[in-house]
Amino acid sequence: MFQAFKNLQWKLVVIFSLLILISVQLIGVTFISSLQKFYSDDFIESLRSQANLLYDPLIQVLVENKSPADTKTELDKKLKQLLFLNTKTGTTTTVEMEILDEQGYVLSSSTENSKNIGKKNLRAQNSTGKLDSTFIRKDRATGRDYQTYIKHLENENQQRIGTIYIEASLDPIYAKIRSIGKLLFQSASVTLITTAILIIVLSQTITTPLKEITKQATAMAAGDFNQQVAVKSDDEIGRLARAFNYLAAHLRRALSQNEEEREKLETVLANMSDGVIATDHKGNIIVKNRWVEKMIGHDIGLGDRLKDVLPMEEDISFPLDHVHEAYIELHPNNPDAFMMLKATFTPIKRGDKELVGLIAVLSDVTEEEKLDRQRKDFVANVSHELRTPLTTIKSYLEALKDGAIHQPDIATHFLNVADTEAERMARLISDLLQLSRLDARKSHFEQQPISIPHLLQPVYERFSMTCKQKDITLRLEVDEHLPTVVVDRDKMDQVLDNVISNAVKYTPINGTITIKAVKVESDKIQISIADTGLGIPKKDLNRLFERFYRVDKARSRTLGGTGLGLSIAQEIIHAHKGEIWIESEYEQGTTVFFTLPIRSEANGIN
Ligand SMILES: Nc1ncnc2c1ncn2[C@@H]1O[C@H](COP(=O)(O)OP(=O)(O)O)[C@@H](O)[C@H]1O
Ligand SMILES: [Mg+2]
Repeated sequence: MFQAFKNLQWKLVVIFSLLILISVQLIGVTFISSLQKFYSDDFIESLRSQANLLYDPLIQVLVENKSPADTKTELDKKLKQLLFLNTKTGTTTTVEMEILDEQGYVLSSSTENSKNIGKKNLRAQNSTGKLDSTFIRKDRATGRDYQTYIKHLENENQQRIGTIYIEASLDPIYAKIRSIGKLLFQSASVTLITTAILIIVLSQTITTPLKEITKQATAMAAGDFNQQVAVKSDDEIGRLARAFNYLAAHLRRALSQNEEEREKLETVLANMSDGVIATDHKGNIIVKNRWVEKMIGHDIGLGDRLKDVLPMEEDISFPLDHVHEAYIELHPNNPDAFMMLKATFTPIKRGDKELVGLIAVLSDVTEEEKLDRQRKDFVANVSHELRTPLTTIKSYLEALKDGAIHQPDIATHFLNVADTEAERMARLISDLLQLSRLDARKSHFEQQPISIPHLLQPVYERFSMTCKQKDITLRLEVDEHLPTVVVDRDKMDQVLDNVISNAVKYTPINGTITIKAVKVESDKIQISIADTGLGIPKKDLNRLFERFYRVDKARSRTLGGTGLGLSIAQEIIHAHKGEIWIESEYEQGTTVFFTLPIRSEANGIN
């Protein structure tokens, strides 16, 4: 029952059935009671009219004052006449009539040989005053109801001379009412069942679309917005279905717009060249992009704390209310992974005031930082490199001034030293100038096609003498049929001079230097200068191309080096779209490689 009340359809059925039941009951009760009244009035009326029929003839008999036996015979005759008339007219109700004398003793009865004759009828006694009266008598023995009618007989002087007592069973009327009630009950049942069926059908037209809407709402909650409720009518439910479809379409559009926005934002975030992190007002991360994770080297979970993710020197106080900038060093102790980030923290405000979090944009300024450091180092190096010869020159000049000039031998030696130092300064300055021109891309490159033997042979010859003096074997190995390259000859000479002179410088006597040219990767010529000299420790290898970097500063200086040779060589090779690198085994030997592209169009110098 309770379960049924959770279901609209059954609720309707139960409510309507109860309503019908109550109204049928009401109608039935009023109908039956008025019917009962009608029948009983009618019944009394028929009894009265029978009494009236007897009235005058009985008065006549009673006033004649004959002997009691004659009077009884007369009265019996009158009653029989009436009963005969009753059967003739079809008045079938079993009626019992008695004629009483003025004291209430039974004179005559419609029942043959009635035991009541001569006895006093006590029921008729009670009615006093009025001429006639009626009541319903319940028979104690049978339990049946009888309608009683009593009419007193009076002579001309209004003196009571007798009474007519009529009694009839109410059973036929009750039976009639019962059968009508039965009919009423039957038709009410049929009505009830029909209505219930109709309501079931009718409520289905309400509940079916409602069920469909419920189904769709459940689907929508699960994220499916593509279904439509069928609109079958134009009533409230039809309008509800239509409104629901509209709502679904609207939500679908809004959601897809939302999704689009989100995707756009995600694409923007993913493709940004900067790292982005956003946090809520407590500093918990709510948005981040891949870039940040790549930079810090591990994944960031949403909800992580900002200060646990970014190693900042000073903490940010939440909520942040002003734009704040900070530099963050990642992996400060590992030069290979070192990174410098510039972070800009901007507060996110909702409306005008409420601070809901911050957004941090992180840009990689490692290169700038490195360049800045290099620039500072460079300036320090240049100053140092220039001051050293200058100090030497100055001290020798002072010694000359102080009298050494008068000792020709010493003076000549001093002047030679000053000259060497001045020359070194000049070399240093000219190297610096060249580097600065290469840096500013102001160097002019005179490109011309040249065959590899033509490029290498003169250099080989130039160094042959020097090597012979140092007992170093110099070899030139050039593959035959090597294609021509397009290069600036003077600049290439400079590269070769520097690399080969390094090899000569750092190779002791009896060593070997091999100049080799081969074709690699179908479009490159690879030239290598291998020596069997001192070699270079591993840790210095990748710093050799830095300006002023020398493995052994003092030794390089005594050998006349500036520490700029390899930097210049690298700039020139890069300008030719080639690569340069060094492989070395400490105390075994060093090989410097560089490549030059073959195709002339790829060989353009910018
Ligand atoms: N063939 C080599 N063998 C050993 N060390 C070398 C060789 N070539 C270069 N180097 C190292 O690289 C450093 C840088 O070379 P470079 O730039 O030409 O400067 P410089 O020759 O003026 O010293 C040298 O100081 C030296 O320590
Ligand atoms: Mg050098």
